[in-house]
Amino acid sequence: MYLTDKQKRMLEGEYGYGQQKGMQINVAVGEAMGAERMVDIHSCHLGGYSLRSSHEGGYQFMVDLYNKGAKFQVYTTTNITSGDLDQWEAIGLGAEAKEKQLKLFKAFHGMGAMHTATCTPYLLGHVPRFGQQVCWTESSAITFANSVLGARVNREGGPTVIAAALTGCAPLYGLRETHNRYANILVHNKIKKLDSIFEAGNLGYFFGMYSQKGIVAVDGIDDYLSNNYLVEMCAAAATSGPCGLFHIIGVTPEAQTRKQAFGENEPVLEVEYGESERQRVIDYLNTTDSDDVDWVYMGCPLLQFDDIREVAEAIRGNKVHPNVTFWLTTSMPIKALAERAGYLDILREAGVMVVSDTCLINLPETYLEKQRKQGIRTVVTNSTKQSGLIPGQCGMRVRYGDMEKCIEAAVTGKWR
Ligand code: F3S
Repeated sequence: MYLTDKQKRMLEGEYGYGQQKGMQINVAVGEAMGAERMVDIHSCHLGGYSLRSSHEGGYQFMVDLYNKGAKFQVYTTTNITSGDLDQWEAIGLGAEAKEKQLKLFKAFHGMGAMHTATCTPYLLGHVPRFGQQVCWTESSAITFANSVLGARVNREGGPTVIAAALTGCAPLYGLRETHNRYANILVHNKIKKLDSIFEAGNLGYFFGMYSQKGIVAVDGIDDYLSNNYLVEMCAAAATSGPCGLFHIIGVTPEAQTRKQAFGENEPVLEVEYGESERQRVIDYLNTTDSDDVDWVYMGCPLLQFDDIREVAEAIRGNKVHPNVTFWLTTSMPIKALAERAGYLDILREAGVMVVSDTCLINLPETYLEKQRKQGIRTVVTNSTKQSGLIPGQCGMRVRYGDMEKCIEAAVTGKWR
């Protein structure tokens, strides 16, 4: 593939170990994907910040890069970690995991990354502009960047984002190119009232399944879609299939009209989303018949300020059942805002724990194993993504329902 003089010099090692490694990854991926050249990258969002997502190989790779003096060349934020440093001991996450997590922090920071520790960097000021080429990990964030912001990014993995952060460029292919961004599948939404995050997630999970066949456009959404609905929809769509981009006709920036969404394409497939499809999603994500509740969990993607307020208002004056653990997960700055607004007092009073910087599936395996041994079997959640992932990644079963149902389960200890 074509490389500029500077990119060739990076590859030859003239700019040091980090940029050479990065360019080696870029070229290998570019050649595999048939890219003809690199494109400049404006910013990166790096995964592999949690021990569970980096695994031992990724952990060693990052520490090695840092020890050899590598530096990131573009603005870089970090995805979620393996635990809440402010409550590490209180949660019981384990000393060994903490030591390793701190080493990983040091390596990422030393190379120039910001400790955002969030899967929603766009809520913390990392907001690419329309058309900008970025390189992000975290499927929900990638889908949000492409679909809602109109930025350009492929469904990247940890190594390709590290390569882009080290070199400031990435191979040009896939969703980075205009002709690959037009829809070819049309989903007709027949449920007129998308009036909760839960409903947004159900629809996202449904149409995400079709992303295996191409780019989905959805019509029939007349409601105003708030940011938290769109965040949930992106996470859900990216869980049920390899979705990196979708369009909502009349809503998202590359689909103000059907013509704009499809370009010269005609739909190769048209499907309807109505009550029976909605119910199928809910049934599929409920993976237990047990009515006993062990753990209630909300916060995937990490909760926004409004979400925390909503839960606090709903549970105010109630107590979490003694057999139940109730967690909300969010980012550090949003937790601080909720503290200042008095919502954390209400939640503490009710027995809800607010955890920052992590989520259930990113907790250390040793911790999850301990929970399973103590009989934690059923997690109740309103998160479509966690419902899809918990059985495989945490070895627990899921009861999936809307926020009101989850809160009722937390207070009564029963799923009804
Ligand atoms: Fe974020 Fe964890 Fe969900 S990284 S999108 S809260 S699985």
